[in-house]
Amino acid sequence: MNQPIGMFDSGVGGLSVWREVASLLPREELIYFSDNAHCPYGPKSVEEVILLSEKIVEYFISKDVKMVVVACNTATAAAIDHLRNKYSIPFVGMEPAVKPAALHTKTGAVGILATAGTLGGRLFNMTKQRYASNVKVVMEVGTGLVELVENGEQYGEKAKELLQKYVKPMLLRKVDHIVLGCTHYPFFRPLIDEIAGTNVTIVDPAPAVARRVKDILEEQGLLSKAMDAPKYHFFASGSTDTLKELLVKVLKVDIELVDVVANVSL
Ligand code: DGL
Repeated sequence: MNQPIGMFDSGVGGLSVWREVASLLPREELIYFSDNAHCPYGPKSVEEVILLSEKIVEYFISKDVKMVVVACNTATAAAIDHLRNKYSIPFVGMEPAVKPAALHTKTGAVGILATAGTLGGRLFNMTKQRYASNVKVVMEVGTGLVELVENGEQYGEKAKELLQKYVKPMLLRKVDHIVLGCTHYPFFRPLIDEIAGTNVTIVDPAPAVARRVKDILEEQGLLSKAMDAPKYHFFASGSTDTLKELLVKVLKVDIELVDVVANVSL
């Protein structure tokens, strides 16, 4: 039970899920892997994303994890079925949060901002058909956004320009909910809130994913019983500059108390 949980993303985006898991489950040891040497995953083929995800999961297994959180919508869309078939540990993926948005919309229109891989995936299209067949779903591919977060440029002019380009068409079509379908996007929250205005609800699925992690650990009797402060480890296949900056400035993590390792090759 006191084994760690592995979490991964194509880069730092999954930290938006990490912070929810760390805050809901403060006794759990967490190993985060940022595959930034191969970022972005969005434009890659399903086969490529499966291969990269598999290598990360093998790495986690060598570290004896009890569960893997796929903290990336694109990797969930491409690889989660494959991973569940291949490995016996539990996997939690990113749910395309179209369902709560479609349930609560008053205008009958919801927006979703995600990568091409996520919007083209079976999971999203099934969810859309199942829960949002009676509402208008305005989809936008957030080309270029992941790279801005990876470069630490999520508050700059370029970010504002791109977000306006993607959010404005949604507003024109009267959406009252915008689903963040990529784990990098919550790091744009101040700008997205500013552009969308107060009448639009922004849906970030991360808290629901953290609750799902807790439920599964509980059901399977896997919750950590550790009494000492949890250990947090961060690994990246490339540089850790942006990761460290986000940890310190946005997540308020004391960098002296965690491991951060760059250039891990799988
Ligand atoms: N954070 C990933 C996601 O949730 C980004 C995908 C990418 O690297 O393009 O989809």
